[in-house]
Amino acid sequence: MELEKIELFSYRNYKNVVINFDSGLNVICGKNAQGKTNLLEAIYFCVVGKSFRASREREVINMQSDYAKIKVYVKKNIGKSVIEIIFSKKEKKTVKIDGIPIRRLSQLLGEFNGVFFSPDELKLIKESPEDRRRFMDIDISQTTKQYVYLLSRYNEILANRNKQLKQNLPIQELKNIMSIWNEQLADCAEKIKKYRQNFVISLMPYAQKVHQYITDGKEDLVVEYVTIKEDSKQDIINKLESCLEKDVQLGYTTYGVHRDDLKVMVNGVDVRTYGSQGQQRTCALSLKLAELSIIEDITHTRPVLLLDDVLSELDDDRKRRLLQYCKNTQTFITCTSFDYDVDCKKIHIENGQIIK
Ligand SMILES: Nc1ncnc2c1ncn2[C@@H]1O[C@H](COP(=O)(O)OP(=O)(O)OP(=O)(O)O)[C@@H](O)[C@H]1O
Ligand SMILES: [Mg+2]
Repeated sequence: MELEKIELFSYRNYKNVVINFDSGLNVICGKNAQGKTNLLEAIYFCVVGKSFRASREREVINMQSDYAKIKVYVKKNIGKSVIEIIFSKKEKKTVKIDGIPIRRLSQLLGEFNGVFFSPDELKLIKESPEDRRRFMDIDISQTTKQYVYLLSRYNEILANRNKQLKQNLPIQELKNIMSIWNEQLADCAEKIKKYRQNFVISLMPYAQKVHQYITDGKEDLVVEYVTIKEDSKQDIINKLESCLEKDVQLGYTTYGVHRDDLKVMVNGVDVRTYGSQGQQRTCALSLKLAELSIIEDITHTRPVLLLDDVLSELDDDRKRRLLQYCKNTQTFITCTSFDYDVDCKKIHIENGQIIK
């Protein structure tokens, strides 16, 4: 997959620009607040149909305009596609593929694949298990529609089960009512566990390899899926039953895949607890870069890579090796200065304009 060109009209601090890109490394240089992240945001908008930072989409419209437009020209394995997003202050945004408006954002899936990384992605290592579950869930959802359904079904049943726990019912009566919820919850849990397990199994070798590469063989990355012990539906049901009294006491379901986590280890130690800042960052980066390969395996085309502000975070060796690694992927990387001896197209941005 290759992004050949982008056109922006009244998008954030861009008035009207056209930018052509290289099929390899594209370095987006500029001082603070010139529009580097805005450009990545616009590109990634066409990947997922959403912004990675605007909570209200109208924010992206230039303050002096009533509407905004992003248009990208994507070269695919076979053929090309043009994705256009039009934002208006008054109406909902319109997304068009080859000039034809789509009805659901899910129709955008697969038109233009990309992986985005910013320093914020450190959450993946440092923050709560929820962030790591989200990482797995977003990735699996990108390629498996059935998973999206399973997950929402699981959460719905879980919410119902939790509600029942708080009804102060006699334990025998509660046991009877719970048998339906337990059965349904176990059915989803068994499948979710399998999907996540397979995801981690396919992620691991890629993450390990890229991590080895960036750290020049100094660090060995291991990702472990932390989940429920039970595999079969019946075993999960039994376990849910045996937890009932504890669950009533605490008022929530203490057992299940909603408590899954990922353990990320470098050279045998948990990087969340013992890793340095740079190590944690490199791990988050390796996991994201591994995503490229997983998506490529499934879609048979390499997604584009968007890296916001990553260079300032890494030491010189790691920076160089990362850039080297990116050579075979169309990459968009932002930075405030760039003096590395690698083949790239430099795009200088000043106040929403491209400086030649
Ligand atoms: N809707 C909008 N209309 C006009 N300007 C906007 C709009 N939204 C954001 N901006 C401006 O865009 C500017 C550039 O933002 P951006 O985050 O892209 O900077 P950056 O080049 O990534 O800077 P940094 O190096 O600090 O990360 C900001 O100064 C912001 O005020
Ligand atoms: Mg920025």
